[in-house]
Amino acid sequence: MFNDDIIKKLEKLPTPFYYYDTALLKNTLEKIKKITAASKFHVHYALKANSNAKLLQIIRSYGLGADCVSGNEIKRADETGFKGENIVFAGVGKSDAEINYALEKNIFCFNVESIQELEVMNDLAKKQNKIASIALRINPNVDAYTHKYITTGLEENKFGINPYEFDSVISILKNLPNLKLIGLHFHIGSQISSLSPFKKLCQRVNEINKWFLNKGFDLAHLNVGGGLGVNYHEPDLESIVDFEAFFNVFKDFLKPRNNQKIHFELGRAITAQCGSLISRVIIIKKAINTNFAILDAGMTELIRPALYQAYHKIENLTEYSENKNYKYDVVGPICESSDCFGKAVMLPETFRGDLIAIRSAGAYGEVMASQYNLRDKAPALYSDEL
Ligand code: LLP
Repeated sequence: MFNDDIIKKLEKLPTPFYYYDTALLKNTLEKIKKITAASKFHVHYALKANSNAKLLQIIRSYGLGADCVSGNEIKRADETGFKGENIVFAGVGKSDAEINYALEKNIFCFNVESIQELEVMNDLAKKQNKIASIALRINPNVDAYTHKYITTGLEENKFGINPYEFDSVISILKNLPNLKLIGLHFHIGSQISSLSPFKKLCQRVNEINKWFLNKGFDLAHLNVGGGLGVNYHEPDLESIVDFEAFFNVFKDFLKPRNNQKIHFELGRAITAQCGSLISRVIIIKKAINTNFAILDAGMTELIRPALYQAYHKIENLTEYSENKNYKYDVVGPICESSDCFGKAVMLPETFRGDLIAIRSAGAYGEVMASQYNLRDKAPALYSDEL
């Protein structure tokens, strides 16, 4: 991702900033487009991973839909040119204002997460004299074997409707004329690094799909969510995830009926690898068992290591060398000990002023930034504008 030419340009810029390789993003999207063309597969990009307007423009230009979890994400999608008919809206707690806004935009589908929400949505749709198309978000009780904070498809999680509630849902729906049930929605978690949870998900979807058909619901849409993980350890070896293997699981194990379309909501797998957080070493602080490389970026720009103990590859772009013989705790300047990007990171000898790249920051980086400590928001820069 970083050749001498790019590093020379980056060296001249004030830090910290997010750097996006737009060519990599385009190659990633091209791959998805190729694999899903001529299939029943429709991919909605999950804006929550990165809603940067320029990246979204590129994503939209490849024909993807938008998966939104707030009124503001729907607004961003709308401003970027996504059509209402390609927008889905999920979330366990949608406010009345958000539902009303989405109804006004005539979005394709609301993913409804509880029996209680069905009633609220019916009332709001009625007031606008509309029929809201909905999918039931089902909690399939499938373990995604990922970090517990980003596991969403287990009974103990707050998301979705549980199978023991299905009978009640069906009888309640009969009395809600402003809702039209068009599909089923699932999402079991994020950063899923093995394909077997997806295989398990397919089996559960098949059973539940059949159950609804037996009850007289021939639903046109199955949405299997997102969650495909990326290789944080070797971002250059796997800069584009193996989408073929991922989609093949669904080709092989999901048994849709002929009239059914399959929807995906991928976020991380699309944007993670095209982004890096670029920072400078403010100071090298000598300590007893380690040296601290203290950066001018911190958990305010990338919270994943602090929040999920997530690994991100750290590279010294100034002292680019294969000889990584020095050990550093790479930390940020924020007043928290959790503000640490990596412990005992092996780097070439590193100096004040060196440029540091924290890789795979294109998903859940910029969007999760905060102004804690009254920090400025770091800008975004793009490879095609340098
Ligand atoms: N659909 C739904 C309903 C979701 O809740 C999510 C992510 C996605 C799709 C997209 O998942 P993806 O393909 O990006 O894995 N901040 C965390 C990740 C939170 C994921 C939340 N839901 C992180 O930095 O790891």
